[in-house]
Amino acid sequence: MEIVIVPDAAAGGELIASAMAELVTRKPDALLGVATGSTPLPIYQALAAKVRGGALDVSRARVCQLDEYVGLPTGHPESYRSVVLREVIEPLGLTEASFFGPDGAAEDVAAEAIAYDHALAAAGGVDLQLLGIGTDGHIGFNEPCSSLASRTRIKTLTQQTRVDNARFFDSLDEVPHHVITQGIGTILEARHLVLLATGEAKADAVAATVEGPLSALVPASALQLHPHATVVVDEAAASGLK
Ligand code: F6R
Repeated sequence: MEIVIVPDAAAGGELIASAMAELVTRKPDALLGVATGSTPLPIYQALAAKVRGGALDVSRARVCQLDEYVGLPTGHPESYRSVVLREVIEPLGLTEASFFGPDGAAEDVAAEAIAYDHALAAAGGVDLQLLGIGTDGHIGFNEPCSSLASRTRIKTLTQQTRVDNARFFDSLDEVPHHVITQGIGTILEARHLVLLATGEAKADAVAATVEGPLSALVPASALQLHPHATVVVDEAAASGLK
């Protein structure tokens, strides 16, 4: 596992956007796995700036989701499909045709999750998967005690994660209880994993991920199993490292 400490979130965003740009230049139809939440926004802003400035052509790149809320109506502004369209697809000048993810409004959520796992494999696998980390060490929405071999499936959010995500909704009651998330086993199949963590609130989770034992209690520690995992942290998020 490679650990890179950067001064702040903007520098982390720039560094990771450059790695994504290098990948897309080498492999124009690369499949980019994107995460949602606040942390990756500087990455998407830096990447969009490269495209606007003419330094990068992403027109053949493909984008896929890491996870999705279950039960939000189609088109809800906080569904992760809407967020990725708004924060990634539109700023990069891509269309919906280059983007796919699980349908959280599907009638049969269990079947949808299995189908998404197959769709990722059929697309040739994820070339670079962006990850954030929860304060409890989750990646995707694999909460503590998720199997390290898990596949894409429905998961129940912990109360802590619902509280953490309530800032995107009008009230805690509106935060869904369930999600479809790529499993840890699914995530580990991506060719390159890039986790960005910023802010002091993530310091304990980062320390447990990087320096703690491999444990289902800290799902992000599964990155220790991956041959090409990069963890980018700002100084605040690195403050728990020895
Ligand atoms: C989002 C996701 C989550 C977030 C994590 C951190 O697609 O998979 O694992 O990355 O909850 O969220 P933020 O970045 O908002 O602190």
